[in-house]
Amino acid sequence: NTGALWGGRFAGGPADAMAALSKSTHFDWVLAPFDIAASKAHARVLNRAELLSDADLTTMLSGLDRLAADVESGAFVAAESDEDVHGALERGLIDRVGPEVGGRLRAGRSRNDQVATQFRMWVRVAARRVSAGLVDVVEALLAQVDAHPDTVMPGKTHFQAAQPVLLAHQLLAHVHPLLRDLDRIRDMDRRLAVSPYGGGALAGSSLGLDPDAIAAELGFDSAADNSIDATSSRDFASEAAYVFAQIAVDLSRLSEEVIAWCTPEFGYVTLADEWSTGSSIMPQKKNPDVAELARGKTGRLIGNLAGLLATLKAQPLAYNRDLQEDKEPVFDSVAQLDLLLPAIAGLVGTLTFHPERMEELAPAGYTLATDIAEWMVRQGVPFRVAHEAAGECVRLAEKRGVGLDELTDKELQSADQSLTPAVREVLTVRGSIDSRNSRGGTAAAAVAKQRERVAENLSAAKDW
Ligand code: ARG
Repeated sequence: NTGALWGGRFAGGPADAMAALSKSTHFDWVLAPFDIAASKAHARVLNRAELLSDADLTTMLSGLDRLAADVESGAFVAAESDEDVHGALERGLIDRVGPEVGGRLRAGRSRNDQVATQFRMWVRVAARRVSAGLVDVVEALLAQVDAHPDTVMPGKTHFQAAQPVLLAHQLLAHVHPLLRDLDRIRDMDRRLAVSPYGGGALAGSSLGLDPDAIAAELGFDSAADNSIDATSSRDFASEAAYVFAQIAVDLSRLSEEVIAWCTPEFGYVTLADEWSTGSSIMPQKKNPDVAELARGKTGRLIGNLAGLLATLKAQPLAYNRDLQEDKEPVFDSVAQLDLLLPAIAGLVGTLTFHPERMEELAPAGYTLATDIAEWMVRQGVPFRVAHEAAGECVRLAEKRGVGLDELTDKELQSADQSLTPAVREVLTVRGSIDSRNSRGGTAAAAVAKQRERVAENLSAAKDW
């Protein structure tokens, strides 16, 4: 006997390179608390099925509790000979309660249903942590929204001057994707809450065990309906990898703006010292490293998703050892978000905005041209004609190097006879913003209503 979980039919142990390839204790050790919780639930159903005496159950549960404490304190660690966390913990249990009792626990279960169950449990805990970190980012954004209810800024499309908007509207445009991410996390948790335990290797168990009891004890909504699917599907993992990658993408989009906004060319914001870094050679530098690391790590999270999907495609049913490759990408994505979320919350919460600078730049690039055209439409002019005339106004203003509001009455008239001096009422940044007052628009009143709906949406995420 080689001492491995499957020693009986083998005359000798694995080659060193085989063992090294096979080993996963260096990353799956984080499943240990879930493995022990699942073992305790499993021991109870074995007892209820009369496969484990009351006395042995008591011995087993106290052995598992001692093992849990030793894992927690670091007194019990993986041995060189352990292949994975599940095998290591069985060894630890047998060390504590002896082979006669400890050797009974494995009845009716397999590492295939164990690992699928415990990985789900790990993702569910991680999802709650990511959700809380994301709520902090949203709250940091909302604090800036509330601090700047009527600050205006240039709005851009194609990164070119487009139309003026409220800073609050722009910041809320970053809040909405994050609220949808929070919603996605809660939604994926419904699918995570199905327990594979009881599926055994692939076909279920002949021992009359109760998968629903184990599911309930481990906090799942139900047991799985198909043991083959339960032990072999990992779409819960790729879904989580997607949601985490999407969160990174949304943080990266926000970061990209911060990176632009803190350049002297934009000058919209100054970064706080504690959330920026300097240069070893250029004394004047203050770099947006938090935002750049967010942008950079996003590539890594996308890679984790893409790699996992590639691992999953084309595997025949049911469990294949390929599936051991499922955990590291998801663990890594969460580890990156654990680092990133508090830093982004810190960065955003401590940005100092420069409203005068943003206001000064808001009309630059003739961003009020659309307001001329829409004013003409309200006078009954077809938009096609109005668009032409407003374009002519831009041409005239550009030729003389003046703003649209500085065109003479004669120049306005030459662009279109409907353009009376009254058009100047919309040729201010504030007038332009306040006129966009329907639901979803950038007018202050519309943004205030939007802010209220965002608060309701956020409280659903916080109550979760
Ligand atoms: N450690 C494996 C994994 O992470 C589970 C072990 C299943 N091994 C097996 N030979 N069936 O997927």
